[in-house]
Parts: sequence; structure tokens; C-alpha cells
Amino acid sequence: MCGIVGYVGAEDAKEILLRGLEKLEYRGYDSAGLAIANDQGVHVYKEKGRIATLREAVNQTEAGTVGIGHTRWATHGAPSKLNAHPHQTARYTIVHNGVIENYEQVRREYLPDVEMTSDTDTEIIVQLVEKFASDGETTEVAFRHALSLLKGSYATALLDLEDPETIYVGKNKSPLLIGLSDGVNVVASDAMAMLQVTKEFVEIMDEEIVIVTKDNVTIKKMTGDVVTRDSYVAEIDSSDIEKGTYPHYMLKEIDEQPFVIRNIVTKYKDEDDSIKLDDNVRQAVLGADRIYIIAAGTSYHAGLVGKEMIEKIAHIPVETHIASEFLYNMPILSKKPLFIFISQSGETADSRGVLVNVKKLGHQTLTITNVPGSTLSREAQFTLHTHAGPEIAVASTKAYTAQMAVLVILAVDAARASGLEMDFDPLQELGIVANAMEIFTEKKDVLEEIARDYLSVTRNCFFIGRSMDYHVCMEGSLKLKEISYIQAEGFAGGELKHGTIALIEEGTPVIGLATQENVHLNLRGNMKEVVARGAYPCMISMDGFQEEDDKIVIPKVHNYLTPLVSVIPLQLIAYYAALHRGCDVDKPRNLAKSVTVE
Ligand code: G6P
Repeated sequence: MCGIVGYVGAEDAKEILLRGLEKLEYRGYDSAGLAIANDQGVHVYKEKGRIATLREAVNQTEAGTVGIGHTRWATHGAPSKLNAHPHQTARYTIVHNGVIENYEQVRREYLPDVEMTSDTDTEIIVQLVEKFASDGETTEVAFRHALSLLKGSYATALLDLEDPETIYVGKNKSPLLIGLSDGVNVVASDAMAMLQVTKEFVEIMDEEIVIVTKDNVTIKKMTGDVVTRDSYVAEIDSSDIEKGTYPHYMLKEIDEQPFVIRNIVTKYKDEDDSIKLDDNVRQAVLGADRIYIIAAGTSYHAGLVGKEMIEKIAHIPVETHIASEFLYNMPILSKKPLFIFISQSGETADSRGVLVNVKKLGHQTLTITNVPGSTLSREAQFTLHTHAGPEIAVASTKAYTAQMAVLVILAVDAARASGLEMDFDPLQELGIVANAMEIFTEKKDVLEEIARDYLSVTRNCFFIGRSMDYHVCMEGSLKLKEISYIQAEGFAGGELKHGTIALIEEGTPVIGLATQENVHLNLRGNMKEVVARGAYPCMISMDGFQEEDDKIVIPKVHNYLTPLVSVIPLQLIAYYAALHRGCDVDKPRNLAKSVTVE
């Protein structure tokens, strides 16, 4: 979702900003723009659509060593050139991520006579700065003054025509980093955008502003007090975010899963091959009378599997909730809850909203994330890192399996620490999982054929499973929806006949998942019910439970860990279905990777 870049240094900023915006494309966007400052003024270029279109529109001869850029994912006002950022007044130019909740009210109160040129909430920020500066305030004071009136989320960067060597930056709730280098400083929503310039970054906290010039970075609170903060070195390499020889990031990330699982085993194993986990995390889990898992999208689906793992292995009751629902409809909590936030990006606004609320109530919080420096990681008491490496494709794949691997380690650690008898070594079993995952790298042609056969022309598709398989079906259907736009539903095998079976017609594809020892036969019964009504069945089972017509048989893995393997054929089926239907696999329409607004 929206991304910001900024550059102040010695080189021409255009190409650096465009490359930075390209690195942010994965977050999802519908328009893009940039502003370049030089002695002749501040030049703005913006376009609806892809960065490639913006690239063509930029006047390559117009050079400038300072600039800001933006990818927009529309919230207020349609995706259009008019609403794309930067927004400008006579003196100031701004880009903004986030949502200003009180923009109507602020506009009525402070800017009643100002004619807005766009439909965005953003424009009021730049209009406020213009107004306060023309009332005699310095740019810095006017900027702080404007931001102090806003309710909502923002990461924003401002250029001043009268001081074109400086970028003014403000942050509240939306992610923003400052990158540091010699005679060059940069601004980015995500370190990946500016790895081309530096690996050294400094975090900005909520309600801080930063004054960035090529030789200085000054962080201030809204009061004007200066803040000092150490920088850190980003642990990612620019090669981690390249596609290499793969046609799409999604395919690369699917293939990386065995490596990710082995990496997690290494990271969570100590010298004597037992689980390595922070004792504070262990105590937080053991001290909880109930765990509340909070997440969105694919991470929510990992949370559903996590609930089963933790309850079955560690005997601790768990509830898994959709973050956006929990935020405004909190159930009655237990006496000693532990909140676990699962989030690939660590930035999801819905989850963060819950985190802020439960922290106010004084509850324990743990984030499981792929981005340790992210907002959810910083703000929770504890973090477990999923070590999956940057995930660029909007449709999440390796982050999901990594989340489940960390959840099972957490569950077994708690079980052992509370003295439960265990004949299950998660680190060894995850090694078996990694080997099982690898088989699908060799079976892509089979999955491509299934996708062609079942999904080339259909308008819908059902996935049915029971128990853990049901949760994987929800994830498989989400993958298919996200990237191929086929209407897909993941259903509990026994539930379809209570209404939804009415949608089954001659030829409707139904993908059945049967890997669970205690219910695989029941699921086969449910498949027969749909086949009797004309469904076109595709059975995926596990070694040991297979039958003759099964299309895919996954290798045998421990019952708790089947989701990590059974999801892979579903990811690949979704990938090939999208490809056959001519969809943009890595950048599906309307979606954002990192959803930083509610
Ligand atoms: C977006 C993405 C999904 C993701 C969800 C939660 O909707 O498109 O792929 O699952 O956000 O993201 P998180 O970063 O919190 O896991």
C-alpha cells in the first residue's frame, strides 16, 4: 500500500527515486508520482497506472539533487492523475501515506476558503503548511503545526520551494525510515527501496518530524525537542529482492519454502539440538490462561492452524481472530491473556489497532513477523522472527509456511516447558517437511496441467477439507481469488451440504484435501456428495491415505504439519491458473501487500 521515497544528495535524484518506487511496487498501488527540486523550481510528474508510465512521463533532462516520490493506493478519491501525489501549493509539495480521519473537519475549520485541486485527504496537509507559513511561521513550525491538527495515520515528506535542499518528514502510525550515507540521506517507507543507496537506517517513531538535508538528519518531537537515536544496518541484501531467472516473484517465493523451513530450524535450534527460544517469550506463553491470535488475510489462516497446533500440543486454549473484527468487537477476555500478532509485514493497520488497545489494557503481546524492525514488532513486548527473507509477490506464500513453522516450535517449546510428554521433535519433523516441499519443485508440470484443465474457463471453484485441511482450503481459495480473480471458497467438508452445495453445477471444480488421519474418509464422502451433483473433482491426499484417482499425493509428514506441505500444490495451482488467464501474478488488481490503513 502507498510508498514514499525521498533523496537529498549529490546525484540526479530522478533515477534513484524511480528505482526506489519500483522496489515499492510490490506493496500495491494504482498511481505514482515524483517531484524534483532544483534552482528553477519544484517539478512534479504524476501518472495513473504503473511506474513504467511515470518513467516515460518524467523529463529526463530536468535534473535535480533533491526529490520525493510516491506510489498511491487510492483511499480518498479515485485512482487518477489528479489524485496522484505529489500535491502542491504555490510554495510546498507533499507526498503522504495513510489516512487523515478528520480531514473534512480540519478543512472546514482552517481552510474554508481554499479551493482544493484534488479529492484526497492529503491535500489539506500541504494547504495547512502553506497557510501557516504565509501567516509568518517558519516551514518547520508550520509543518509541525499542520501535523498536530491531524487525526489518523501519516508518513509524509514535504519540499519547500524556498529551501529546496531540505526534505521535511513526518510520521504517525504509517511506516517510514531515514537512510543515511556520506553526503546523501534518503527517505523510504521500506528499506528495500533505498538499499541502492545505503543499508544504514534510522527508525522514526510516531509523532516525530525529521529535517533531512544531504549532510544532516535532525529528528524532533512535535514540541520541537531534538531526539537522538542510533541507526541500524538492514539485514537484507539487494539480491534478496531480485527475481533472478524466475518469471515471477511468486514462483520464486513458492520454491524458496524448503530453504525457509530449514533456515527456521537453524535459527531456532541451539547447540544441543533443542529449541532455542527467548525465556521471556516462554514465560509469557506459560503464564497465559488463553492465547488470542490476531491477524489478517493469509496470516489469519496461519493463525487458524496455529490454534490447532497450540491447543493440541501445548494444551493452552487459543482463539484466532480477524484483526479488523476484533478491533471494534472485542470478546470477553480471559484473566491472563497473551496476544499473538501474526503479520508478514508487521505493518497491518488492523492488527496494529488491536495491539494499541490491548497494550492499554496491560496485556502481554508477542508479534510473529517477517520484518523484525516493523511497527508490530517494535510495539509488542516480544517478537519471533519468521526468517523467510523479503516476500515481494502480493500473494503471500513462504511467509505463511514460515509462520506455521514458528507456531509449531512455540507450541512444542511450551509443551516441553510445562512438562507434557512429547514424542514429537518439531525441528526434525520440519526437516522432513522441507524435503516433502521440494517434491513439488519437480511436479510443476502436473500442477500446471491441473490448473489448465480445471480453471482455464471456470468462473468459480470450491476447496473442501476438514480440520487442519479446512484451514488450508481457506488459504488455497484466497490464493486463487487474489491472483486469478476466480470466485473461490474454502469450505469445511461437512458444511457445504448445508446450503452452498446449491452452487454446484455440471463441471464446477471442487478441490478436496484429505491429509488428516481422523477425517480423510469423511472428506471423501463429502466429495462423493458434490460429484453426484455434477462437480469436477480434484483430490489431493497424503501418502498412506491415497486412492486411485487422486490427482496429487503429498509425501507423508507429521499430522500437525500437513498444512505446510498441502498448501504448496494449492499455491502452484493458483499461480498457473492466474498465468493461464493472463493475470498479473505478482501485482494483482486492487490489492496491496502491506495494508497500512484500516
Ligand atoms: C494484505 C495482503 C495479504 C496479507 C494481509 C495481511 O491484504 O495482500 O497477502 O495476508 O495483508 O498482511 P500481514 O503483513 O499482516 O501478514
